[in-house]
Amino acid sequence: MNMKKFLYLLFAMFITVGLNACSPDDDPENEPPTEIPENPDDPDQPDNPDPNPNPDPGPNPNPNPNPTTGKTLIVYYSFTNNVHTVVGDLRTQIEADVIRVEPAEKGLDYAANNYAIGSALIQAIRNNPGNASSYPAIDPVEVEFGQYGTIIVAAPLWWSNMAAPLQTFLFNHGAEMVGKRIGLIVSSSSSGISGVESDAKRLIPDGNFLTPSLWIRSSQTSDCHSMIAQWLEDIGYTE
Ligand SMILES: Cc1cc2nc3c(=O)[nH]c(=O)nc-3n(C[C@H](O)[C@H](O)[C@H](O)COP(=O)(O)O)c2cc1C
Repeated sequence: MNMKKFLYLLFAMFITVGLNACSPDDDPENEPPTEIPENPDDPDQPDNPDPNPNPDPGPNPNPNPNPTTGKTLIVYYSFTNNVHTVVGDLRTQIEADVIRVEPAEKGLDYAANNYAIGSALIQAIRNNPGNASSYPAIDPVEVEFGQYGTIIVAAPLWWSNMAAPLQTFLFNHGAEMVGKRIGLIVSSSSSGISGVESDAKRLIPDGNFLTPSLWIRSSQTSDCHSMIAQWLEDIGYTE
């Protein structure tokens, strides 16, 4: 091999090695280790300089930026006292004011004749949900909504919907719950609760709903304590 060829070969080897060193690395094992700071937002962390010190905050995705301010209100209705029992347990776990909604017409048996009255009340709301006259009258309640940051609505399920008297309360006051944190607890024998969740969202259109809702079957009523404790943890409830 003459000198010219040798120099050429040396040059070619040099180029190949150099190119490989600069090419994108497909092998994740060779990627540089990425350090995850313990607190990415800590401005005191010198190794974590803010690449964009004046970012445009844009629209606030959370309409209730300080969710821990304000008291908690529990509002519920209960015909056969399952929800009442659940609320009684909830009150041993959090500090809250409580409103029990009562129908104006006393002594009705919503379950008689194969739930005929309850069924008719729900049907009337389904037929015309935007009209106040579709909702059964309830005893008047005075509420100062301004003092509450969180409202827990506890409802029996009737025919896949929220029990009618509680719908009346929310129809009357849902607009006053703008931006409040709304927690939903539903009691049913066996039916799933998505219809009740839809009712709550329709009646409190600007509520800041906490997820998940808590579904307690009638048969679980007496064992509800741990379900409630777990739910409060799941929704990040803080006082
Ligand atoms: C009018 C009426 C309709 C009901 N419809 C249903 C239903 O469709 N599915 C279901 O699982 N339970 C249904 N239930 C049962 C209740 O949801 C359940 O017993 C609940 O625990 C009642 O709560 P309360 O004791 O606080 O009133 C109905 C009860 C009533 C009174």
